[in-house]
Amino acid sequence: MRQKSTTMASSIAAHRLHQRQEQAERSVLINCPHKTSEKKILKFLSSHGDINKCFTYESYGMHAVVEFASQDSVSSLLDGAGIPSNNHESMVPYKSRLMTLRGLTEVTNQQSSKLSHPQTTIPINELIQRLSQEESIDQQIISLTEAYQLTEENSRLRFLVCSLLKDIAAAYFPECSIKPFGSSVNGFGKLGCDLDMFLDLDGISGRNLKMPKSGLTLEYQMKRATSERGVTQSILTVIGECVDQFGPGCVGVQKILNARCPLVRFAHQPSGFQCDLTANNVAMKISELLYLYGQLDPRVRHLVFTVRCWARAHGVTSSIPGAWITNFSLTVMVLFFLQGRRPSIIPTLDHLRDLAPADKSVIEGNDCTFVCDFDRIQLQNNTETLKLLCEFFEFYATFAFSKKSINIRKGKEQNKPEVAPLHIQNPFETALNVSKNVNGTQLERFVALCQESAWLLQQSDNTVPKGGRTPTPWGLATLLLPLQVAGVKSRKKRKREPASERIKGLLESLKN
Ligand code: CTP
Ligand code: MG
Repeated sequence: MRQKSTTMASSIAAHRLHQRQEQAERSVLINCPHKTSEKKILKFLSSHGDINKCFTYESYGMHAVVEFASQDSVSSLLDGAGIPSNNHESMVPYKSRLMTLRGLTEVTNQQSSKLSHPQTTIPINELIQRLSQEESIDQQIISLTEAYQLTEENSRLRFLVCSLLKDIAAAYFPECSIKPFGSSVNGFGKLGCDLDMFLDLDGISGRNLKMPKSGLTLEYQMKRATSERGVTQSILTVIGECVDQFGPGCVGVQKILNARCPLVRFAHQPSGFQCDLTANNVAMKISELLYLYGQLDPRVRHLVFTVRCWARAHGVTSSIPGAWITNFSLTVMVLFFLQGRRPSIIPTLDHLRDLAPADKSVIEGNDCTFVCDFDRIQLQNNTETLKLLCEFFEFYATFAFSKKSINIRKGKEQNKPEVAPLHIQNPFETALNVSKNVNGTQLERFVALCQESAWLLQQSDNTVPKGGRTPTPWGLATLLLPLQVAGVKSRKKRKREPASERIKGLLESLKN
């Protein structure tokens, strides 16, 4: 089932990240009159130089991402741009690569909007219809992944927003860089997911500098702080303030500096992204690890996408922070489940650490070492199909959450080190529980939904529709129907009914 040769795939990934960052620096984001033709935009902008890529999308009006072949073209474009003149309002004179195109008239034909690239997922109802037309559950799962995963354009836009933010941060720290992490780059991102950004100051902090042993040297005088966390807090305070006061298109800025991991949260309107800016090195490393797991076997990504989508459809996860299970926790739960298959589908983190070359990666006192060279990783020969989804639900429907902790380092459940309804060990900061926020009610709901979903999937073998008629939701599509949530609420009552009654009820609901 292993997809293709993944020779040095991780270094290819690093190269791609670098390439994306570099492309983003040569790109501009332009607000255009509604339904402007791409051709007209290109014609106008190409007077500044060759354009490698241009695409449009809708978010608070029409926007175009334009990547020039050379940095000089961007400078020329910026030099030629005017300052907005408005007698009634005052402007903060901060110039950036987010601009407005004026003077073009709207086109009335629909052609241009058809070319516009959507930056959000298809509505769940449309997804359910699409899945109902597939012929196997495996195909449904693959189709869901394809519909939800980030597109090339969306990924470019994410890097561009990081690059625009970098320009703001660079006013204080010219050598800094801002990199996307989390689901924007770990391979599990869904269109519309938030944009997690890492403010990387390593280039300045001197961690990589080697001082000569003898002779004269100069060093910078720097203000001292009591802790690394204190430094992060003061840096995020000023950058947060700049984003708030000067950042074009950045609204609703919140500085959440007392959180375990201090962050600045805001909405970037021109891209439609909800953004979190942090300076957490360990989280970056986790993103790399998740990416690696996702690349080892295609079943990993398929299962993660499906479980995340299922969880969202039933309100197991939410876009509002609270006592809900998060996508990150769900991802770790899927990895843990796959490690436990026999033969295992993916190796444990301890195994990946043992395969790593001698030089250790220690970040803030945490051992974050793991092998990056895919060639060193020997996978076992597990040929299970995506029926694994049903197994996943069964696994967590009966998992001993009250006593056991989920641990991808060991690939085996461990005794819970603390009282919390759900305990998932952070892969690198091992004293932390990733799902500390989850309360008993939410966990119970998750377990009940797992039980119900496992049951529904087992039944679905008999309900595969024969082609040629309007597709009725079946298999995975049934699992995404909100109807089933009500089923869970009355699960206890239904349990007492004879099995024949349950099946009759289910068939009725499928017909509807
Ligand atoms: N993270 C962590 N510990 C947590 C929560 C998050 O280490 N308790 C790190 C993980 O690396 C995670 C990243 O922060 O991938 C971003 O967190 P979040 O946005 O919550 O998760 P995503 O994986 O990005 O998923 P989503 O699509 O929901 O944004
Ligand atoms: Mg995220």
